[in-house]
Amino acid sequence: MNQYYTIHGGRRLEGTVTISGAKNAAVAIIPAAILAGECCILENLPHIADVQSLKKILEKLGANVEFTRGDCLKIDPTTINTCDATFDEVSSMRASSYLLGAMLGAYGEVELALPGGCVIGARPIDQHIKGMRALGAKVYMDESRNVVRAQASKLKGAEIFFDVVSVGATINVMLAACKAEGQTILQNVAKEPHVVDVANFLNMMGASIKGAGTDVIRIIGRKRLHGCTYAVIPDQIETGTYMIAAAATRGDVVIKNVIPTHMEAISAKLMESGARVIEGDDGREYYLRVTMNDRPRSVNLKTMVYPGFPTDLQQPMMAYLCTASGTSVIQENIFENRFNHVKELRRMGAIVTVSKRIAKVRGVESLRGADISATDLRAGASLIIAALSASGVTTVRNIHYTDRGYEHLEHKFNALGASIERCPL
Ligand code: UD1
Repeated sequence: MNQYYTIHGGRRLEGTVTISGAKNAAVAIIPAAILAGECCILENLPHIADVQSLKKILEKLGANVEFTRGDCLKIDPTTINTCDATFDEVSSMRASSYLLGAMLGAYGEVELALPGGCVIGARPIDQHIKGMRALGAKVYMDESRNVVRAQASKLKGAEIFFDVVSVGATINVMLAACKAEGQTILQNVAKEPHVVDVANFLNMMGASIKGAGTDVIRIIGRKRLHGCTYAVIPDQIETGTYMIAAAATRGDVVIKNVIPTHMEAISAKLMESGARVIEGDDGREYYLRVTMNDRPRSVNLKTMVYPGFPTDLQQPMMAYLCTASGTSVIQENIFENRFNHVKELRRMGAIVTVSKRIAKVRGVESLRGADISATDLRAGASLIIAALSASGVTTVRNIHYTDRGYEHLEHKFNALGASIERCPL
């Protein structure tokens, strides 16, 4: 059932929020668990629709998957009985592409429905395929069925230079290479925190991966991996979303269960705009405190691969800058079509012009409530931030997008003083 949010805006966010496990790490680590060949227990998983979808996909492949505690998933891949992943749940989820590397590594074959996910550009998988072929897999595209089939009697380590820096391709090829014979060297790889988290998980299962978090990853393939218990890192993008929301509502929010070094690009931009961002350690965990009392100053930003400003926070940041003094220039370098939220922000009184990959945001005093619709996950986050800071009431439709990636969103915001109600259609 499609639901919507009713948001009464203009309330200052104050208090403490705890960040959940990282969506982008979780959606790679769950398929990666197939490679263990034994039971794995994953901790600190977020309660989001994408995790539920992957659980269902693994179950359809025959695995035993169960939540043992709220945030703990036990995955037993030993009962997997098919390499046919061409059903609907697979095609409707972008991250299911990780089954390519995981199944190929574990069983030497897979047939996979091509992924969908957020509509934020073409999102090809040519680099994933190039990597699998370099490892010795035969990969066929069946365009009439929108299916990719990969098969290898034996994967062999190789040296692969990616043409573009891709999170998905880096992780996918790393998964397969863990089981390839000999050494694989991946060059021009993504360095995002969740790439490192997946590598740490694989190493915990007995893989040999060095260099994750740098431009070059070296992998020595292993015949066998084993089960383990692993806790997923906190979500960088959820953290950034609450940081930006705190500043947008001229609030004062302590954000717990964070890794401050993952947030440096965001902290820097918020401080440039006039917000106060303090890092702390309460003896148990790191936290960030974001305080903002005044109207922000405009800032310019360009989305970049990590450690640059993440594209996933470009949309939330734009909502914040809509009420800055002056004009902000935002350049989207990662995806060619990630300005779908602009039309909706304009309904709230924002003044934004877009030319190709550049958006110019002329700040207004305040936004006003409107009836608006999310077009993708982070566009949804952007509109919610705009609604929280706006005067009046906003209806945000298509919240199944934010359900994909934000755990307990309305509960967390409401605990900070927001007024967000989930309504049935
Ligand atoms: C991941 C994240 C997503 C984030 C994005 C960029 C997950 C589940 N999703 O998506 O939230 O916005 O990284 O940080 O982790 N490209 C190619 N060929 C390929 C693969 C990618 O040309 O084979 C291009 C894409 O079109 C895009 C760029 O590379 O322009 C980056 O994409 P990529 O890093 O692969 O993004 P995803 O892994 O899909």
